Amino acid sequence: MRKRILIVGSLNMDIVVDMKQMPKTGETVMGKHLSYIPGGKGANQACAAGRLGGSVTMLGCVGKDSFGTRQIQELTDCHVCMEYVDVKEEEPTGTAVIYVDEQGANSIVVVPGANSCCDIQYLKAHDVLFQNCGYVMFQMEIPKEAVCYGLTRAKELGKITILNPAPAPDSLPEEIWDKIDFLTPNETELAKLTGMEAMDEESIRKGARKLLAKGVKHVLVTLGSKGVLLVNHKTEQIFPAKKVKAVDTTAAGDCFNGAFAAALQEGYSIEEAIRFANLASSIAVTRKGAQSSIPRREEVYSICAAN
Ligand code: ATP
Ligand code: RIB
Repeated sequence: MRKRILIVGSLNMDIVVDMKQMPKTGETVMGKHLSYIPGGKGANQACAAGRLGGSVTMLGCVGKDSFGTRQIQELTDCHVCMEYVDVKEEEPTGTAVIYVDEQGANSIVVVPGANSCCDIQYLKAHDVLFQNCGYVMFQMEIPKEAVCYGLTRAKELGKITILNPAPAPDSLPEEIWDKIDFLTPNETELAKLTGMEAMDEESIRKGARKLLAKGVKHVLVTLGSKGVLLVNHKTEQIFPAKKVKAVDTTAAGDCFNGAFAAALQEGYSIEEAIRFANLASSIAVTRKGAQSSIPRREEVYSICAAN
């Protein structure tokens, strides 16, 4: 039996406002449309991995409110095991206010709420899930200490670890880098993690090599419409993205991460998994919202078959 993917992370309700142009500081603009869409980086990645055929268990916390109930239902519908997600009486479900402009670009503010309760103690209480899985994936919308503890514990148990360092932390402890098998920053996150200036292709490669030298095994830099750069000790390779008309890039990175984990679990090589995840996320950007944009397995395979 294949080993499960354990996804440890945030669950939010996204309050999405579509508008012509983002407001500048102090400016009021008229919005076109407001919607409530389940999101949160952890939940989006679980949704993607589940919809794309992965066997997924989620660890995280929601509030005892309608947003939490909806999130649990949505992910259950994506075949994600939500049995161990904690429902907190004292905190509301995390929320994200997302502005999306006419070009499909977004700005996001997250209010963590119950996501702050996804702490070391909670992870320790579910150690058996770490013991029984094959892959553990984290992002940075839960307490940083919990992410570091979880990565360390997963590696102690010999699991394959994936860290999507989003949103990018100001710093990470030096001893964490060699606990990461796959690090998946976008360009901005890579710049922040390496302390480098915003990046042309050569400095992106240089930044990725810097993280490799610290102990990360594979760095996958997501480059938006340009695809993904893979850097490890054997290769430096760009995997171009499919050309599409993007309408909303919210959760593109999450879709990539979830799809990548599902493909690894399926037994794909790293290169094959990147190609699969690139395709899945190129579909996601053609649709609005976070979990609402993430494709099903058959949709990705039908594009593979057509190409
Ligand atoms: P977000 O924060 O908006 O969720 P991100 O910044 O974490 O996304 P990106 O690098 O923008 O991540 O995108 C992740 C992946 O999604 C890319 O590597 C690519 O596969 C796909 N993608 C993103 N934008 C486009 C696009 N315009 N066309 C095709 N594919 C895209
Ligand atoms: O990556 C997209 C996600 O970031 C949104 O769903 C929002 O909830 C924030 O966490």
